[in-house]
Amino acid sequence: MTRTKVWTADPSNCQEDNLAEAALLLQQGAVVAFPTETVYGLGADARNSAAVARIFEAKGRPSDNPLIVHIASQTQLEELVLPYSQLVQKLMDAFWPGPLTIVLPVRSNRLSPLVTAQLPTVGVRIPDHPVALSLLRKADCPVAAPSANRSGKPSPTAAEHVISDLTGRIDGVVDGGVTGVGLESTVIEVAEDDTVTILRPGGVTEEELRAAAGDARIKSALTVIDEAAAPRSPGMKYTHYAPDGQLQLVQGEQSSVMAYMQSEVDAARKRGEKTALLVFEENTGLVHADCIASLGSREQLQEGAHRLYAALRYFDQEGIERIWSECCSRQGIGEALMNRLLKAAGNNVFHV
Ligand code: TXA
Ligand code: MG
Repeated sequence: MTRTKVWTADPSNCQEDNLAEAALLLQQGAVVAFPTETVYGLGADARNSAAVARIFEAKGRPSDNPLIVHIASQTQLEELVLPYSQLVQKLMDAFWPGPLTIVLPVRSNRLSPLVTAQLPTVGVRIPDHPVALSLLRKADCPVAAPSANRSGKPSPTAAEHVISDLTGRIDGVVDGGVTGVGLESTVIEVAEDDTVTILRPGGVTEEELRAAAGDARIKSALTVIDEAAAPRSPGMKYTHYAPDGQLQLVQGEQSSVMAYMQSEVDAARKRGEKTALLVFEENTGLVHADCIASLGSREQLQEGAHRLYAALRYFDQEGIERIWSECCSRQGIGEALMNRLLKAAGNNVFHV
């Protein structure tokens, strides 16, 4: 059992000195969780295999799932990856700092092989969060950081989530309040012919990528995932974001969705099961269950992205056994939101 320290860092007044202890611990091989604009990450010096091994151990993460490396500025990149194309440069300039992870051919012997899970590539990003940037600058090393949750659980969007999953298993948590985007970064790979493949939808939308990428072809890897084959993004094959209760998504015309949800809730309650519903703000008054969480307005899907993981964790706290959720449009951030809902539900969708 490790004693987990907690430091508070105010994102609006964040000085590197406040993060001195956390940064020093990182340099000494500790594992420290910190906020980013997407979700909390669990960081360790990406060059130090003993430190990186502790990330996998603390999370219970399979060793074939590589970690994203976080840096504070583009100047750190040259050390880590091989020369890249003008298109890659353009995307970095457009979206960094920000929720875009770019998978690039890695230089040998610069990073712990545990970070890349033996792949010839590494996923890199510059997070857009003052606390993360201060910590990275102060630590002055590339920081490998997956989401700071126990493997399989919803990602943490607040320090309390990290503490509830990992206290006693990690050296510290920098508490910088609630994260902004609420879903993880978009992971892309850029081929030699400049085709951009979205390996995981996230905070940067496909529409935004298209607008920045000019004539480049953009495609999604989600349609070609084959469980039997080695997935392009290893993380995509594991169960993710799952609440303790059984989650079903309900798709169809509004009034039929509400009617189906209510009849399922009523039947489950008769069986003595504790029920919850995840619905858009417009519909919270139309249905009843033991717990109802709002995803915010259907017209503002970034609000749903911001709230999803906290809602799933709230249901766990309340001991909810059965959950039904609305689906959303796949426009903009809706693509990432639907992706996480589907994963949390293990692809259990009922069409009314
Ligand atoms: O927003 C985020 O990306 C957060 C914050 C902390 O930065 N991090 C995060 O990390 O979500 P993680 O480990 O939970 O997810 C990383 C994803 C996984 O699906 C992994 O398989 C993929 O990125 N990935 C990492 N390196 C890769 C590589 N070299 N090739 C393909 N996929 C890679
Ligand atoms: Mg994760």
